[in-house]
Amino acid sequence: MFAFGITATDTEMGKTIVTGSLAAALKERGYNTGVCKPVASGCVRLADGKLISTDAEFSMACAHMEGAMQSEVVPYVLEPALAPAEASKIVGVTLEPQVMLETCKKMIMSNEATVVEGVGGISAPLTDDFLVRDFFHALHIPIIIVVKAILCNVNHAVLTAEYAKNHGLKVLGFIVNSWNEEIAGDLEKSNLYYYEKLTGLPILGKLPTLPAELMTHPDSKKIANIVEKNIDMNKIIAVAGGENTNE
Ligand SMILES: Nc1ncnc2c1ncn2[C@@H]1O[C@H](COP(=O)(O)OP(=O)(O)OP(=O)(O)O)[C@@H](O)[C@H]1O
Ligand SMILES: [Mg+2]
Repeated sequence: MFAFGITATDTEMGKTIVTGSLAAALKERGYNTGVCKPVASGCVRLADGKLISTDAEFSMACAHMEGAMQSEVVPYVLEPALAPAEASKIVGVTLEPQVMLETCKKMIMSNEATVVEGVGGISAPLTDDFLVRDFFHALHIPIIIVVKAILCNVNHAVLTAEYAKNHGLKVLGFIVNSWNEEIAGDLEKSNLYYYEKLTGLPILGKLPTLPAELMTHPDSKKIANIVEKNIDMNKIIAVAGGENTNE
């Protein structure tokens, strides 16, 4: 049984896409795979009033968790697209760290491999006193930082890695999202160099932009194929403490 967390240098960097993609790869390697998230904001309200987390929807589909209830994956769903601490105040919901932790612990305990998506960045407030870093720390799981080879991202990557380490988290390395080898120039290539040089952490893989049809209809086999070609899953499993089924 092993689990790891996915954080990023910013919101919208690709945590969900990376979470789902890694879950698809783990699933296709034969692991009983789970995904979870402590709380989702910016959720979509359906006509019947139900709130849907599109993050949970995508990663659940990647992990073949169609049968699972959204509430087993993410215990709180909030409509305002704000940090959970603030979004919850607006809608009058009290978020309990214990509930977030229990939901994710249950997911981890009932699967061989679990990918835990954070919220926003590493210091995003889930409540006023419980930040994403505290959540990962309390779960005792290592984290991967999703980065993008864009201007100023080296700075954000270094700050995220240093902050996480200073708060007692084990950082496994980086996944560079939306990588395109064909158009990578000085900016993109130098980002890769400095992520590793300035943090001493490895780049575990570079995920390309997924085809649009896989975004709307996630196919775990196709996504896993892309992941296996571009991300070092053996290394991730090894450093996350899993037993490697491919070796
Ligand atoms: N590798 C990718 N291939 C295709 N589209 C991508 C990829 N990465 C990100 N995107 C696009 O960027 C959007 C933001 O990515 P994603 O939802 O994974 O970010 P996030 O870090 O999880 O954001 P949030 O902080 O809101 O949870 C996605 O809806 C998707 O459209
Ligand atoms: Mg997300």
